[in-house]
Amino acid sequence: MRVSVIGCGYLGAVHASAMAELGHEVIGIDVDERKIEALAAGQPPFFEPGLPEILTSATASGNLEFSTDIAAAASATVHFIAVGTPQAKDSASADLTYVDAALHGLLPHLKAGDLIVGKSTVPVGTAERLAAIVAEHGSGATLAWNPEFLREGFAVKDTLEPDRLVYGVADQTAADVLDEVYAQALSTGTPRIITDYATAELVKVAANAFLATKISFINAMAEISEVVGADVKELADAIGHDVRIGRKFLNAGVGFGGGCLPKDIRAFTARAEELGRGESVAFLKQVDAINLRRRQRVIDLAVDALDGSVNGKKIAVLGVTFKPESDDVRDSPALDVAVQLKGLGANVVATDPQGIENARRRHPQLEYVESTDDALRDAQVTVLVTEWAEYRNLDPARSGDLVASRSIIDGRNVLNPAEWRAAGWAFVGMGRR
Ligand code: UGA
Repeated sequence: MRVSVIGCGYLGAVHASAMAELGHEVIGIDVDERKIEALAAGQPPFFEPGLPEILTSATASGNLEFSTDIAAAASATVHFIAVGTPQAKDSASADLTYVDAALHGLLPHLKAGDLIVGKSTVPVGTAERLAAIVAEHGSGATLAWNPEFLREGFAVKDTLEPDRLVYGVADQTAADVLDEVYAQALSTGTPRIITDYATAELVKVAANAFLATKISFINAMAEISEVVGADVKELADAIGHDVRIGRKFLNAGVGFGGGCLPKDIRAFTARAEELGRGESVAFLKQVDAINLRRRQRVIDLAVDALDGSVNGKKIAVLGVTFKPESDDVRDSPALDVAVQLKGLGANVVATDPQGIENARRRHPQLEYVESTDDALRDAQVTVLVTEWAEYRNLDPARSGDLVASRSIIDGRNVLNPAEWRAAGWAFVGMGRR
């Protein structure tokens, strides 16, 4: 099939490459010239495991091309909208500027039989509004909403082998076209739910709201554990054995961040309020509040570890990305902690295997070092806030020789407290005994 993908960020670049990998002829379109140049040269403009390989093979095969000109979409019959829907600057709502711009840019290039497929996460009701615009334009094209569930760090696998496909469609023809697009995944038995626009849009935000709630639930248990001397990790293991609960997404720590969960729960709340149903998801405000309190908790622990003031003290911050295997620092709890400690006068030295460039662009006031050893050297307290394997596997004895003071805060609960304490470290976890 001839496919266009509008928006080549974390979602679109992976989607375009994966579609080409599946044998479709793909044109990836983005307004950012530098991004398009890099992608056309086979170089992803961000870190995503597995992406360089499929991008290179797809561009070399001629199946994947890139352009900054939306007119290039004219040759395609299926048009994916994969642009960002960030939080609006002045409210909790999603900013739909890029989605609207993508659709309006596409309109003059559509023809009868074309299918526009929304992949971006949007407030419920958006697809219906956009479908009306497409119908009014009179090209004969139609619209479907097909939310994306990929996780950064596993984006290529999640796109090639999704755990489910959700089609929000107005008619069977659109579902048939999507079946052709996803023929390979469907042939392996991937479940597919065919539904209306509103349900498809809601599935996406409901999934992210549920995941965020699960994380904040366990972080709430961490808060209680901290008061009574219980251990939240053992608690999570114990409740996780109940298959109805499950152990996944029950890792207490500094909380969730990234370009999706935080803004999606806020946008969902804002949309529900617009619909007169604010009370239905009012709990998501608590989910958000619990999550943000965990960042403050790490900061408070650092202040405590330094006897009441971080001013002028060297703090090693391990990790700036919102999670490992990503260079994404959007709404990153790790970077937030680093910035706030710096704001309190600490001499923060941050490190990360992939995120330094993005972090420096946003927060040039922080000192960044490439090597973990350089970050640890002479640190008076060490704060682990992104659980990269390199930090999970740190040797307490060797690290102890580098630091000024053997004091560590494990903001992700990934270190073994007994081992670190045995090596002479003052060790504090999140909700841990
Ligand atoms: C999330 C969803 O997991 C995807 O299914 C969804 O497609 C995507 O958002 C999206 O909307 O595009 P992602 O943002 O890549 O994916 O990251 P997650 O793996 O969900 O992690 C989110 C945050 O939660 C990270 O900061 C992570 O450290 C944190 N987290 C996760 C915890 O604090 N505890 C956990 O137990 C799990």
